Amino acid sequence: MDKIKIAVAKGDGIGPEIMDAVIHIFEAANVPLDYQFIEMGKTFYDKGFSTGMTNEAKETVEQLGILFKGPMETPKGKGVKSINVTARKTWSTFANRRHFRSLNGVDTVFSQAGIPIDLTIVRENIEGTYGGIEHMISQDVALCRRLITRPGSEQVIRFAFEMAKKEGFKTVTCAHKANIMKLTDGLFLETFNEIAKDYPEIIANDIIVDDLAMKLVSKPQSFEVVVLTNLQGDIMSDLCAGLVGGLGFAPSANIGDQISIFEAVHGTAPDITGKNIANPTALLLSSFMMLRHLGLMEQADNIENALLCTLEQGKHTGDFGDKNTASLNTTDFANAIIANLGNKPSGPEGRKSRATASYSLPQKPAEQKMMQTVARKSEKVVGIDLFIESNLIAKDLAEILKQSETADCKLIMISNRGTQVWPSGSVFTECIDQYRVRFEVEKGKETSLALMFDLAAHAAKNLLVTSTEILRYFDDKPAYSLAQGQ
Ligand code: NAI
Repeated sequence: MDKIKIAVAKGDGIGPEIMDAVIHIFEAANVPLDYQFIEMGKTFYDKGFSTGMTNEAKETVEQLGILFKGPMETPKGKGVKSINVTARKTWSTFANRRHFRSLNGVDTVFSQAGIPIDLTIVRENIEGTYGGIEHMISQDVALCRRLITRPGSEQVIRFAFEMAKKEGFKTVTCAHKANIMKLTDGLFLETFNEIAKDYPEIIANDIIVDDLAMKLVSKPQSFEVVVLTNLQGDIMSDLCAGLVGGLGFAPSANIGDQISIFEAVHGTAPDITGKNIANPTALLLSSFMMLRHLGLMEQADNIENALLCTLEQGKHTGDFGDKNTASLNTTDFANAIIANLGNKPSGPEGRKSRATASYSLPQKPAEQKMMQTVARKSEKVVGIDLFIESNLIAKDLAEILKQSETADCKLIMISNRGTQVWPSGSVFTECIDQYRVRFEVEKGKETSLALMFDLAAHAAKNLLVTSTEILRYFDDKPAYSLAQGQ
């Protein structure tokens, strides 16, 4: 069998120790891989590469489409973005798949209660608050723009359903906060409901994310696949890691149409670096998703069974397992797995035959791709929101703003932290120095972009306008939310 070339970045901290252990296991199991080691990580930031990787490293990943990586340190200090997040976003790995299952030998509250856990979190990996679009809009106020897009939601939700279909999961659940964030999470949920129609054989549920948090802790066995937006998925997946024994057992696959990245969820563990005591299991579990993605099913099954046997035998590194039995170091733990190659666990085996290969070499696009979305039939401009830094109280601010009204477009509302404070409101509402003020035409009428920017420019003569948002109707529906109390 020809060897498949993959890019490997050992990473920082414990990265090289756990990567060497995993490659040692691969070699013992005759996994037909050709490792192209690339230069990526904190030291390359320090050497002046702003993306944390050399150009050759970037080219290798883009050519091969597979990056197997150890954890990487994000240098502390202003302006430096996480190399891990940058890699996932740059290469459009839109779906972050994290698989959590109970493992014999890894004691948890649930294993002791005889409740098996086997669930997969699919987290949107590019958008949401991880867009990193943040501004200080007054001395006291920081703003993060949370982008949820229809094409981005479609990609990750379709991935979740396709995965469920291929691997035999019966239920996909969408977790969201659409009751509060009606447009952003509302769009995610609407997209989920649309895509679910293409998979009638799969039960599609939805759940409010806080309810999910409670149910994951009380009844984790009731979920199979859960798909979420980025930050909510990040938090829920760490919660799931806790359910199955901690970060040492949390694998992750970042899947894109062309490029995929496989890594453990945990970081560089600086507190134990260089001691050869790190647990390589999470990286090894991530590698099973990679091997199956590459079509190396037999090899994945073989090594997974060897790992399960090793855990069943009570062998463990220092971060888990029976404290009354001596822990193994990283190298010896890897050797114990190697000694079990060819053995089968007495408990359940891995997910194996249900997965199918999905890898092909990337086709380099000529240009960046503009993703298609649904075209709207009609749109009209009906007003503008101005964001204003001011220490005035709302009624005094309103007096100044009224000077910017036009014949058609009137000041209709002022809100502070999203709560209406003018024309009506409560004196108990505590305010900060950032207002959102809304000018709108009468219902059914429309105005123009040019007039709205003139209005903003007029207001900016007297007030500190920090940003604006045009109010529009798409297909006769308002494309903006109301303030609380409006
Ligand atoms: P961490 O995950 O590195 O460590 C948290 C705790 O878990 C530590 O006590 C550590 O010793 C332990 N731990 C983690 N992995 C372990 C393993 N395999 N075996 C045994 N114990 C393990 O999180 P922390 O300390 O917040 O982050 C350290 C660095 O890692 C930061 O620079 C952070 O930016 C980076 N990081 C990188 C990630 C990635 O490359 N995907 C993900 C998370 C953090």
